Amino acid sequence: MAKKAAPKEMQRLDKIVAHITGWSRQQATKLIRDGGVAVGEEVIVDGATKVSINVPLVIAGFNDAPEFDDDALELGSAAGAVSAQEALAAQVFLLNKPANYVCADRDKNHNVVTTLFRAERNSAHLHCAGRLDIDTTGLLVVTDDGNLIHNITAPRKEVNKVYIARLDRALPKHAVRRFAEGIKHPEEEKRYQGATLTPLTPLFSELAEDAAGADGAAGAAGADGAVGAVGATAEHWAAVQLSQGRFHQVKRMFEMVGCQVQELTRVAIGALNVTKVQLELGAYRRLTPEEVELLFTNQDYELSELEAMWHCYRKAMATAAPHYLPPQLMPSGTIAPEDQAEAELEAADFDEVDADGNFRIY
Ligand code: URA
Repeated sequence: MAKKAAPKEMQRLDKIVAHITGWSRQQATKLIRDGGVAVGEEVIVDGATKVSINVPLVIAGFNDAPEFDDDALELGSAAGAVSAQEALAAQVFLLNKPANYVCADRDKNHNVVTTLFRAERNSAHLHCAGRLDIDTTGLLVVTDDGNLIHNITAPRKEVNKVYIARLDRALPKHAVRRFAEGIKHPEEEKRYQGATLTPLTPLFSELAEDAAGADGAAGAAGADGAVGAVGATAEHWAAVQLSQGRFHQVKRMFEMVGCQVQELTRVAIGALNVTKVQLELGAYRRLTPEEVELLFTNQDYELSELEAMWHCYRKAMATAAPHYLPPQLMPSGTIAPEDQAEAELEAADFDEVDADGNFRIY
């Protein structure tokens, strides 16, 4: 994988401040001019000054609460100081994407994934490496490193991804072969590349047979020769391993063999998978450089490994906050985060006003 080029040792102060804070260059210049930035111990007021990226910076309103002494801005201690070197290093996160969030930089109607990173410095520079649908959960790299995004998403890089899907019905027998040969979807000009489809339904046969025993339902393979049609309560799960990432590709491939996807999650990117990272739904963490390399290490997963990933997925779903679940799994009455504030206002009792004239909410 191509590495991000090392930043130059000496850089303009306004550029560094804008990068560290995520503020515009104009805002950074004004703050510097107002004496709001100290480089090491020294306040520098000219944004064009070149400073070393290794020296810690104190930035008023960012990592320092400015104090005013005789109306002059005083910078406090350098306790929260951050060097540009630290700030310029690529940030690479792995998120277990919740449902109800979209992989976009902006969206008028939906939550965007990057809002989950608000607490991170420079979060305005973070972008998703690829897209998962709004109702798809699972592993997603979020980073400010454009090269990394390119390397993960560029078709010719052929990064391997694994999805697990719950289907509305049993897979027809020919599905494994059709996936391997490459499926043609009417909305796509070209046939999809071949993919490995692994039915996971045998995982559930015991469970389903138990239930069938209790109510006398059929427990054998379906009359149409469907794989894993083990009883009235059977769930139909399958894993797909592929290296392409076309729009709605996994859902569309299943559609072409007559199945509808009811839950979809990404459980692996390359050799990095949910059994190694163990993230709750909606949680993320930084990746180490070694873990970033794993993204580019292609791996053919065996059934037992796919089953272990399925178990991780189920565990994450069982403990997930309700508003992170896809709509069809959300308990009734769940309030989406964007509606939460509005609901609180509606439920509020507005009979007191505070000293600033704001309503108090109980
Ligand atoms: N394929 C899909 O259909 N949806 C996704 O979110 C990812 C892959």
